[in-house]
Amino acid sequence: MYLTKEEERIYDGEHGWANQICMRILVRLGELFNATKLIPVSSAHVAGVSYKTLGDAPAEFLRALANANGKAKVKTTLNPQSFDQEYLSRKLPKDIREKQSNIIEQFRKMGLTTSLTCTPYYLERPKPGSHLAWAESSAVVYANSVLNAWTNREGGPSALAAAIIGKTADYGMHRTENRQPNVLVDVRNLLQNEAEFGALGIYLGKILEDKIPTIQGPNNVSETKLKQLGAALATTGMVNMFYYNTQLEREETEKISVEAKDLKRTVESLSTTEDVKVDLIFIGCPHCSLNEIKQIAWLMDGKKVRSGTRFWVCTSRYVKEKSEKYVKRIKNSGGHVLTDMCTIVSWTEILGIKTIMTNSAKTAYYAPTLNKAETVFAPLKQCLKTALEG
Ligand code: F3S
Repeated sequence: MYLTKEEERIYDGEHGWANQICMRILVRLGELFNATKLIPVSSAHVAGVSYKTLGDAPAEFLRALANANGKAKVKTTLNPQSFDQEYLSRKLPKDIREKQSNIIEQFRKMGLTTSLTCTPYYLERPKPGSHLAWAESSAVVYANSVLNAWTNREGGPSALAAAIIGKTADYGMHRTENRQPNVLVDVRNLLQNEAEFGALGIYLGKILEDKIPTIQGPNNVSETKLKQLGAALATTGMVNMFYYNTQLEREETEKISVEAKDLKRTVESLSTTEDVKVDLIFIGCPHCSLNEIKQIAWLMDGKKVRSGTRFWVCTSRYVKEKSEKYVKRIKNSGGHVLTDMCTIVSWTEILGIKTIMTNSAKTAYYAPTLNKAETVFAPLKQCLKTALEG
C-alpha cells in the first residue's frame, strides 16, 4: 500500500502511540482488501458504545487511546448507549451507569460528538459522493443507498481509527466498480407498510450474500420505509447498498423473484408469540426522524397508553429538540420519547420486560437473543392500536 511521507511518519510512531496504532489498523485493513492508498473521509461514525455489548476490556483500550492524546480529525458521531439520561438511567444500578458514562467520557476526550444516535444523517446529511467511515450497519446502508455517500461497513475500532487519522483505506464501497447493481429483485405488487419493507430486508439479506440489488418496488416510497429495508438487509446479510427503482443497464443480470408467501412467512417468523399482552411497545429502530415522531403524535392524539404497557419512542436528542410539540403530545398520552439509547443494547431484562412489540424488523430479529424477550412484529398503526386504550 502506498503511504505519503506524512502517513509513513505516523505509521512509524513519530506522532505518538494513539496515531500510530490507528494508522496501523487502517493499513492492515487496506492490505487485507488490496487497497493501494488511503483517502480522506468527511466524517466518521463510531459504533460499539453501549457498555452492555462492549464490556470492560475495550473500555480500557479507549481510555489508553484518550490518555495518549488520540484526537478525531474529522467530525465523528457516536452510536447509542445503553440507557437514556432521564427515564431508564434512574432504574439502573450505579455501577452500570458509571461504567457507561466512563466510556462516553473517553470518546468525548478524543473529540467525538456525543450524538448517541444511529441516525447521524438526521443531524447532518452527508453530501452525495462524499467518502465516510461509518460503523452501524443500518446507517451504512442508508448512506450508500439513500444519500449516495460512500462508506464501507466499518467496525467500531476501524471507524475510530479513521476518525483519528481522518482517512480510510480505499477499497470496497469507496470504489465505483464495487457499487454496481448485480441482481434485480421485483417486488412491485408486494409491499405496503414499513414492517413489510423490513421483512423484505430480512428475507433478502439471507439470500443476497454481498450482492447489490436493484429493487423494483412501489413508487413514491418514504425514506422511512427505505430506512427499515436497509437496516433489515444489513441485519441478516453483508449487503451494504441497494438501489431502489433504478433501471439496470445490463440485461443478463440475475433476477430474484420474491413471492407474497415468502414475505408472509418472514413477517410471521419475526413474531415469537401471539400474546397480545406486551410489556413494551417500541418504535425507533433505527432512531425516529421528525416525520415519524409527528406521525406517532398524530396517531396517539388524545388517547392514553394502556396501564401496564410501556410505550417507548427512541430518537436522537437533536430530533427530539426539533419536535418538541409532538413529543409533548406523546408524553401526554403516556408514552416516553427516549434519546441516546438503543433498546436492543439496553437493560430491558433488569426492567422485567419479557415481551416486546415493534415495527422494526431489526429489533424483532435481535430481541429474542439480545433482550431475551418474546417479540410481536407489526406495522406502526397496529403497534399503536395495541398500545392505546379504546
Ligand atoms: Fe439503532 Fe439500535 Fe436499531 S443502534 S438501528 S436502534 S438496533
